[in-house]
Amino acid sequence: MTGIVRHVADLRAAVAGWRRAGDSVGVVPTMGALHQGHLSLVAAARAACDRVIVTIFVNPRQFDNPEDLAKYPRTEETDAALLAPLAVDAIFAPAPAEVYPQGFATTVSVAGVSAGLCGAHRPGHFDGVATVVAKLFGMTQADQAFFGEKDWQQVQVVRRLVADLNIPVTINACPTLREPDGLALSSRNARLSAQDRAIAPALHAAMQDAARAIRAGTPVAAALVGAEAAVLAAGFARVEYLDLRSAEGLEPVILLDRPARLLAAAWLGDVRLIDNIAV
Ligand code: PAF
Repeated sequence: MTGIVRHVADLRAAVAGWRRAGDSVGVVPTMGALHQGHLSLVAAARAACDRVIVTIFVNPRQFDNPEDLAKYPRTEETDAALLAPLAVDAIFAPAPAEVYPQGFATTVSVAGVSAGLCGAHRPGHFDGVATVVAKLFGMTQADQAFFGEKDWQQVQVVRRLVADLNIPVTINACPTLREPDGLALSSRNARLSAQDRAIAPALHAAMQDAARAIRAGTPVAAALVGAEAAVLAAGFARVEYLDLRSAEGLEPVILLDRPARLLAAAWLGDVRLIDNIAV
């Protein structure tokens, strides 16, 4: 089984050796609790790069709520076992003090694309993501990085970050994997009760209905109101947002005159689910 690297110096030494040999390096940043969605990112990295690093780090700086951070599943042994057949070259799982040593004082903040949607409801979340992703790129010196489209806004934040800071890494966004009933794979799904798990696919179903309606000419606002009502009627406790945005800049879209994305976040009990689809 691949050894787990805990220290940046050890990772850098391994990467330096690979680079001397002329190997390309891919990174899949994760917070662990791996599922098939993550494994599909690793497979994409494996296909594109000579060397693959999977990072596992539950980043405290991207949690706006200490309870959510405490509850986030930590399953390192299972994660390593899941990665074993994919023959990754390194699992980098540093302790928080390795990533944020005493005196750490830098925050990377990406304006614009971070502002609405999840950014509006989780203050500081994308600053935490941008800061840790910038650090992971520096630590791994990867040529390519692989993220899931499920976190669509995160992908736009990371793309902006690498463009603005001239970080020499290619960002690959890979399609969302879904359960047969449409529920997007997520580490948070494991926390759903059996009853809520049965309700959960209603989010994706309502989004698909809204997307179809918008494409067929229903006014965007009416389609969004209808989708939100359907999600609540299915048993969701609260819809945080359900909105149509331009696919890249994430500006509100009122008329379907450019590539757009329908994005949503909604609560089932104490579990927050997000999803997005193309329109
Ligand atoms: O998507 C995630 O799991 C995290 O936000 C990431 C990109 C690993 C940064 O902590």
